[in-house]
Amino acid sequence: MRMNFFYNINFKIFFMKNLKIIKHPLVAHYLSIMRDKNTKQVDFKSSLDKISYILAAEAYASVATENKTVNTPFKKINGTKIKDKIVILPILRAGLGLTNGFVELYPEVITSHIGIYRDEESLKPVKYYFRFPKVKDKSDLNVIILDPMIATGGSVIFTIEYLLNMGIKKISVASLLCAPEGINAINNRFNRSEKKFIEIITCSLDEKLNEIGYIVPGLGDAGDRMFGT
Ligand code: PRP
Ligand code: URA
Repeated sequence: MRMNFFYNINFKIFFMKNLKIIKHPLVAHYLSIMRDKNTKQVDFKSSLDKISYILAAEAYASVATENKTVNTPFKKINGTKIKDKIVILPILRAGLGLTNGFVELYPEVITSHIGIYRDEESLKPVKYYFRFPKVKDKSDLNVIILDPMIATGGSVIFTIEYLLNMGIKKISVASLLCAPEGINAINNRFNRSEKKFIEIITCSLDEKLNEIGYIVPGLGDAGDRMFGT
């Protein structure tokens, strides 16, 4: 479901054109397992892994394709092949939990990494790692940022800014949960022409952030629950 999304927070209306919220019974089922505070680490991880396939299918829905001649056993037809050079960019650590579906559904995908953590007091993103392929012609690069949580939006905004500065023109963010405050921050940070390059895909737009920057109702700390720390 793609929508022009309006949401009311603190009497402010925000508008985000390219926000896609996935409504799917399997996503709702596995997300409920992940939200349950009594769910064990192994079930938390495996539920995220299953959702990653559905997120991947949605994110790949907007990649560019080209024609390719195919000889079936009976005749020659116009087939299709993916044209974009697709790069997934998980934000370490928690973004790693979303990679499986993306790699399994399209094994040619390039996996890049960015390491960012939120400073616990300021909630500001701190970058500690970045590896990306050296590509001269960036015109057909399609980068999909993976991060289960968009809370203040700081980590994703930092990553999008980084990619835009590199000259990348197709950017999606695949996430599990987001807070209205995070979507609002992304919407306010980028101008109309930048937003043309950006798409956000999520499984839920939750209620709000709490006073310490966690998504409510949320699922707690995604990285800690995934890695058992
Ligand atoms: C979490 C999460 C996001 C970030 C979201 O990472 O995985 O990357 O917080 O918050 P924001 O929208 O306010 O930036 P965290 O800092 O906990 O690091 P981790 O993945 O290493 O646990
Ligand atoms: N990061 C998380 O892991 N969970 C939240 O609720 C917010 C940021």
